[in-house]
Amino acid sequence: MTTVITYGTFDLMHIGHLNLLERLAAMGDELIVAVSTDEFNQVKGKHSLFSYEERARLVGALACVDKVIPEHNWQQKEQDVKAYQVDIFGIGNDWQGKFDHLPCEVVYLERTPTISTTQLKRSLSQIDPEAIRQIKQGLDGVLNIVKALE
Ligand code: CTP
Repeated sequence: MTTVITYGTFDLMHIGHLNLLERLAAMGDELIVAVSTDEFNQVKGKHSLFSYEERARLVGALACVDKVIPEHNWQQKEQDVKAYQVDIFGIGNDWQGKFDHLPCEVVYLERTPTISTTQLKRSLSQIDPEAIRQIKQGLDGVLNIVKALE
């Protein structure tokens, strides 16, 4: 039985997250994902749009994820590796070399290019609210037509 673990915020779940989690799951039999709590995100200087509970539920709903645990601080990785009898710690290569000291195999996977939560937040903040209102109005109109045809 090979146990793999990873850590992250996983806000605004995107294809880069899924690619990483699927590749990690393929390395073993069980994938544990430690999702950063809202309090720990503050320590990291991150503000997530979705709460810990929401992010943890979304990650836990993925077929490739077996278990979700909270990540409360930087130090817990060492204890987790022992407590969960972890064989492989894996994370994106934006963290290259940062976790080499952990008492298990450590792998850094290439990030999926051109997507990140930061990038998504930036794009979302540039959308004109009036454009969103018009898109919604258009969609409501289509829904009404579909309902009338039913
Ligand atoms: N990740 C990845 N490819 C991406 C984005 C993220 O492989 N394009 C990986 C990260 O390397 C990390 C995990 O997904 O191992 C969780 O990363 P997280 O920081 O939650 O996501 P980011 O999109 O990198 O968020 P941010 O822009 O806030 O750093």
